[in-house]
Amino acid sequence: MPPSRSSTLAIAALVISVATSGRTSLAAAQDLARGAAEYQLCAACHGDRGAGDESHGAPAIAGLPAWYLTAQLQKFRAGQRGYARGDDTGLQMRPMATSLHTDADVADVAAYVATLPPATPAATLPGDAVHGQALFAPCSACHGPDGGGNEALKAPRLAGQADWYLLAQLAKFRSGARGAHKDDVTGAQMRAMASTLVDEQAMRDVVAYVRTLAPTGGTK
Ligand code: HEC
Ligand code: HEC
Repeated sequence: MPPSRSSTLAIAALVISVATSGRTSLAAAQDLARGAAEYQLCAACHGDRGAGDESHGAPAIAGLPAWYLTAQLQKFRAGQRGYARGDDTGLQMRPMATSLHTDADVADVAAYVATLPPATPAATLPGDAVHGQALFAPCSACHGPDGGGNEALKAPRLAGQADWYLLAQLAKFRSGARGAHKDDVTGAQMRAMASTLVDEQAMRDVVAYVRTLAPTGGTK
């Protein structure tokens, strides 16, 4: 008796799903190798292990989650970040992101960077961490009490990031050098929050508190 139409369809579906999952795991292995190769360019500023380099203004990116790395690389590519006159470091990063030609290029390098162990950059700025802890209370709603980030809210991990970089980004959100592009929804949310920090000292204090939090890797 020939197989019924429904069992033929069931077998076809099974074959397709096996073939697809096989391809997915093969592709995933290749992606990391491609990502590592692409990362050679990035290492010139972000360092071999993604720990960042203040002399280039390049942040620590090791172990940031792939969703955040991808989102930021796409913003740079689309001109939603690194667009403002005077934003020298953003303007430097933008052509690096546009050198990633396809979405797959972006995904591969993001997947690779996410596998690197998070760095713990040295403190470079003075600040009052006790005052900063109080200022951080509203921030923790999105970035987490441990500064570990929250994917659902698109808020990145802050723990383990260099203090000079965090301060520079808060200043950019406040001035509109970051987060003011009309299509940058998450940047606009963060801009509103940065403007609640009343002055440079408040920014330094909140950054001093964030520096006391240990980075927790790239899972959130
Ligand atoms: C010429 C130096 C340089 C190179 C090369 C470079 N970057 Fe950057 N990158 C920077 C600077 C500077 C910033 C900070 C931009 C700012 O101040 O807003 C940055 C920011 C970033 C950010 C944002 C991090 C965050 O926390 O929001 C990501 C992600 C990033 N770079 C990934 C990459 C990747 C991936 C590559 C390689 C394809 C790369 N960069 C190559 C200089 C560089
Ligand atoms: C409503 C949610 C929310 C709150 C509250 C919030 N943030 Fe953010 N924050 C975000 C999002 C979303 C981003 C990513 C913006 C983007 O996509 O460019 C971000 C980004 C940042 C960045 C840039 C990190 C990087 O790697 O470039 C810093 C620094 C930061 N926030 C600090 C703070 C501080 C300090 C506070 C409290 C004063 C705060 N945030 C409160 C949502 C929030």
